[in-house]
Amino acid sequence: MEFFDSHAHYNDEKFDDDRDELIKEIYKDGITKIVNAAYSLESSKKALKIAENYDFMYATAGISPNDIDDFEESNLNEIEKLAKNEKVVAIGEIGLDYHWNTENKELQKHVFKSQIEIANRLNLPIVIHTREAIYDTLDIIKNNKCNKNGVFHCCPLNVDLVREGLKLGFYISFAGPITFKNSKNADEVIKMVPLDKILIETDSPYLSPEPLRGKRNDSRNVKYMAQKIADIKNMSLEQIAKATYNNAKEIFEI
Ligand code: NI
Repeated sequence: MEFFDSHAHYNDEKFDDDRDELIKEIYKDGITKIVNAAYSLESSKKALKIAENYDFMYATAGISPNDIDDFEESNLNEIEKLAKNEKVVAIGEIGLDYHWNTENKELQKHVFKSQIEIANRLNLPIVIHTREAIYDTLDIIKNNKCNKNGVFHCCPLNVDLVREGLKLGFYISFAGPITFKNSKNADEVIKMVPLDKILIETDSPYLSPEPLRGKRNDSRNVKYMAQKIADIKNMSLEQIAKATYNNAKEIFEI
């Protein structure tokens, strides 16, 4: 059985001590495709550099709403330049976050919209980060057409967001929170998403699933998300592995 981790951060310093060894172990364990996700200009460069070492790893390039304190317009040009590399399969993670930052909403929107334009120019999908900003996020993607659509990464378990996101043609990527005992909407939201629109991810090194919460996360744990979805949809682990693998290959054009 093979799995596709659609979103992990091997550019994070938590992997500095054992990155190469670990990535090889992960591959041997059946995680045979990984998208290494960026969140800032620096992390975009690092994500790409790491991805270039492995046939089975790809990268995103983009600036997240939590990484715009020292934003300059020229950063966007650099993201666009990096994203022309064939290893870069999406612009992300980009979006809005009103949990961590509420004082710069206009700048967040500007950076988000500008990067949708980059994605459209390069014919790439986007990877969306949205937290406590669901309606503004939906407004932006409704009013700024994303030609290749994209993915709601670590999708908030919110019925409105999932319904509207699916209507727009976006994929829904599930991460550790669907396994948490206190995530009330998980079952309902998983049932809402058709099999051909689901992706799975770890968001490593953060957000380890149950029963590993609090430990450093890595792509091997994507199996817990697949198992949870299999349980809710009354399907086999293999069916979920295969569907999510094919979906990720399709959206990222791999
Ligand atoms: Ni992430």
